[in-house]
Amino acid sequence: MKKIRYIDLFCGIGGFRIGFQQACKKTGITSECVFSSDIDLFCQKQYEANFNELPVGDITKVNENDIPDHDILLAGFPCQPFSIIGQMKGFKDATRGTLFFDIARILNNKKPKAFILENVKQLAGHDEGRTLKVILQTLRDFGYQVSYSILNALDYGLPQKRERIFIVGSLEPIPFLFPEPSRLFKPLAEILETNVDPKYYASENIQQKRKEKHTSAYNPSIWHENKSGNISSYPYSCALRAGASYNYLLVNGERRLTPREMFRLQGFPDDYRIIVPDMHARKQAGNAVPTNLVKAVAEKLLLCLADKENTENEAHGRCI
Ligand SMILES: C[S@@+](CC[C@H](N)C(=O)[O-])C[C@H]1O[C@@H](n2cnc3c(N)ncnc32)[C@H](O)[C@@H]1O
Repeated sequence: MKKIRYIDLFCGIGGFRIGFQQACKKTGITSECVFSSDIDLFCQKQYEANFNELPVGDITKVNENDIPDHDILLAGFPCQPFSIIGQMKGFKDATRGTLFFDIARILNNKKPKAFILENVKQLAGHDEGRTLKVILQTLRDFGYQVSYSILNALDYGLPQKRERIFIVGSLEPIPFLFPEPSRLFKPLAEILETNVDPKYYASENIQQKRKEKHTSAYNPSIWHENKSGNISSYPYSCALRAGASYNYLLVNGERRLTPREMFRLQGFPDDYRIIVPDMHARKQAGNAVPTNLVKAVAEKLLLCLADKENTENEAHGRCI
């Protein structure tokens, strides 16, 4: 357990990688990413600029035998088929719904010690729970002990209400429990930039319309307009979304979030380089996994795996 080799599937801009690396550091484990994949060229560029590694493209075209052996598989697989924002097609969506099965074929072939998967929380209820049941059963059939939980980034240090399902599996039986929520999140004031470029401000007309409809109880606050035009505001952000309308979230009802603010809301550190145009940065941030959630889950998993290995080594030592 002193060195862990892992793979980063559907890696996007590396949210999983950042959280996992932080967890490894905290638990005193050296980590090496031995394979990463994402089909999106802008994500690949962004990932390379930060990790000095160009992810492989379409995973459906990668033969599992060509993937290096690894201890842990990480995958935040595409959420569109399961999301309420999408059209609830799930596995029937022939192009996207089958990407879970690419994870499955890699797991089945490489049999890493453990995995962490992430998706939107709607996966749990999709098709009356049948979709998740198929996923869990597939993973168990491969010999994994599997558990899942829905975690909210707001409960793990970030001022963003973002609920995600995490599915964790281990080949060996381990007493894995999901991390307890801390319920303390970073104040919005620490996320927001000062001296924001005027281009991020909504038009006078939009600002005025928002303010006619709503007065916030918080300062600073992020205002959220839902599909029916209702406005609410909180001292945290609603979930960032990749395909949201331009003025879906407005700081103090006045301006859009800057790319740096969006990346901060997902827990990306300030030394993370943003090298893509704003339009892509918004999409990338909306698709990313909150790094804090990955760190919290991975830490628990790594400690369990390390304990297991220590116990086995001790038992082995006694036998000799
Ligand atoms: C929900 S996002 C994951 C984001 C990532 N966890 C992060 O923090 O940035 C899903 C990713 O899967 C990628 N993707 C979709 N289809 C793919 C495919 N066939 N092969 C590889 N990547 C794919 C998308 O480009 C997207 O970046």
